[in-house]
Amino acid sequence: MADNVILVGFMGAGKSSVGRILARRLGRCFVETDDMISAREGASVPEIFATKGEAYFRAVEDEALGWLALKSGDVIATGGGLPCRVGRPAALRALGTVVWLSGDFDTFYRRALRAGERPMLAGRSADEVRALFHARESFYRQSDVSVDATDGGPDQVAGRVLSALRLRERVER
Ligand code: S3P
Repeated sequence: MADNVILVGFMGAGKSSVGRILARRLGRCFVETDDMISAREGASVPEIFATKGEAYFRAVEDEALGWLALKSGDVIATGGGLPCRVGRPAALRALGTVVWLSGDFDTFYRRALRAGERPMLAGRSADEVRALFHARESFYRQSDVSVDATDGGPDQVAGRVLSALRLRERVER
């Protein structure tokens, strides 16, 4: 049964750290699409971008969507760009409950610059990244649930996600 919890959102939203805490609290396994892709390719995401280019990475993301069909009951953090193609939001919703970690661009951008190497930020001005952020909103908005991830640490945001999931469960029942 496709009862996964799938986290989507822009770089710096906290998908990985929130996802890890959420999985622990729910007693579920945690997986990240970027890790699945790195393992398959035998290279880190920045290495894949550098040697094979973005188009290649996006094609492997497409395959990763197929691998996710084998998952059940997991918490899944997706790469920031994975939901942002026609048909992808619906494909993700078919796998479980999709949670958008939404929030403020400046906060996410600051966090994304601080943590880890992110090929989509390299060589782009802040205004260009802001444009990407807004262009992606229409895809993220197709999630089942939206949780603000601007303020508070990952623990707090995970708590907000849990509340949103419980509320949704109650409404659906
Ligand atoms: C990307 C986000 C990254 C990673 C890749 C592309 C994007 O994941 O998948 O660098 O297009 O926004 P995070 O959202 O975890 O940084």
